[in-house]
Amino acid sequence: ALERTFSIIKPDATKRNLTGKIAAKFEEAGLRIVASKRIQLTLAQAQQFYGVHAERPFFGELCEFMISEPIVVQVLEGENAIAKNREVMGATNPADADAGTIRKEFALSIGENSVHGSDAPETAAEEIAFFFSGLELVG
Ligand code: CMP
Repeated sequence: ALERTFSIIKPDATKRNLTGKIAAKFEEAGLRIVASKRIQLTLAQAQQFYGVHAERPFFGELCEFMISEPIVVQVLEGENAIAKNREVMGATNPADADAGTIRKEFALSIGENSVHGSDAPETAAEEIAFFFSGLELVG
C-alpha cells in the first residue's frame, strides 16, 4: 500500500554535509520526499519526541546529541514506505548494517547513526504530526 513514513537526518550527518547524499538514497529507493525542513530542536522537543526511550540509559546522551546541530525532518512516501525506508537505513548499529545502506556508508556509531525512521504505521502518523501540519505535505 502507498504509505508515508517520517525520517530525520541526524546531527552527525548534517554536520558532515551529507543531507543531499542521504536524500538521494531515499529517492533511488523509490521514496518520494513529500515534505522537508531543516530545524534545530530544543531540549524539551527532543525529550518529547524520544519520550518512549525516557527510561533508557542512553536517553540523556541521545537528546543532547539530537540538539547539538540542525536536523532535517522529512516525510517519505511510497509503496511500503516504512519497511522500505528501514531497508535503506540499515541496522541501528552501523556495525550490523548491510552494505549499501545509509548507516553502513555514513553512520559513526549506534548513537551517531545518521538517520531515524519510523518503525510502524502508528508511530509514523504520530511522528509526522509532531513536526508537520497537513498543509506542509505535498504529494
Ligand atoms: P533512533 O531510530 O533515532 O531511535 C532511538 C535512538 O537511540 C536510535 O535511533 C539510536 O541512535 C539511539 N540508541 C540506541 N541505542 C543506543 C545506545 N546504546 N547508545 C546511544 N544511543 C543509542
